[in-house]
Amino acid sequence: MTVNRRISVAPMMDWTDRHDRYFLRQISRHTLLYTEMVTTGAILHGGAERHLRYNDAEHPVALQLGGSDPDDLARACEIANDYAYDEINLNCGCPSDRVQNGAFGACLMATPDVVANCVKSMISASNAPVTVKNRIGIDDQEDYPSLKRFTETVAEAGCKTFIVHARKAWLKGLSPKENREVPPLKYELVYQLKQEFPELEILINGGIKTLDETAEHLKHIDGVMIGREAYQNPYVLADVDRRFYGDDAKPLTRHQVVEAML
Ligand SMILES: Cc1cc2nc3c(=O)[nH]c(=O)nc-3n(C[C@H](O)[C@H](O)[C@H](O)COP(=O)(O)O)c2cc1C
Repeated sequence: MTVNRRISVAPMMDWTDRHDRYFLRQISRHTLLYTEMVTTGAILHGGAERHLRYNDAEHPVALQLGGSDPDDLARACEIANDYAYDEINLNCGCPSDRVQNGAFGACLMATPDVVANCVKSMISASNAPVTVKNRIGIDDQEDYPSLKRFTETVAEAGCKTFIVHARKAWLKGLSPKENREVPPLKYELVYQLKQEFPELEILINGGIKTLDETAEHLKHIDGVMIGREAYQNPYVLADVDRRFYGDDAKPLTRHQVVEAML
């Protein structure tokens, strides 16, 4: 199974639920859509059906998991196999306190070996390709060396695709919202990563708002993930199919999108 990740919409808690994804699918046929993060606990103990079901029309759709226990992640992947997601992604970028206490999300950037074990275990359990979404670093980690070490270690475990939010996360002192705005964006570190690991698929995320900016990034890396802009200004996706997938079919008008939702 191959997934075209040239353009994707980011996983966003409370935002990219199945209704939002169905809506976005009316605007672009090809953009890869990510679910909100679903924790292994929610899948294993909280009713998988409620968290995992979606409409077939949402394909291509990727499930993002939150967790750091290899066995739990494997069991979550086995359950997710029944739902035929196109990709399973591990969250190594979310800085919220609740997530840190569960020891997953961005704090995993400090323990590449743990992530490598998680990824190995997910790959052996999942029918779909396994990817990782991470930051360029956390707290006072050195900028590039820690990103390189993280990528190398996790790639050795079999992960071929990394989606990098091009800013650090500060785990103490900044709220999750501030962590999406305050640490500076450093796109050049993600480009450097692609140069150093040309065999890996490297995607960039953070602060990208237009398709012109998207086209610029695509000169350096394999794909662009758009977050907030796709929620706050969803019609930005209307020209994605033509510009980035060579699909000349006319996009639905805003009016037709509303009718489709009705
Ligand atoms: C409301 C909201 C919820 C988010 N939830 C998640 C999440 O569940 N998992 C995750 O990896 N990132 C999450 N993020 C971060 C986004 O995926 C993305 O990395 C970030 O917003 C930067 O991209 P942007 O500048 O294009 O928005 C969230 C962001 C927002 C705004």
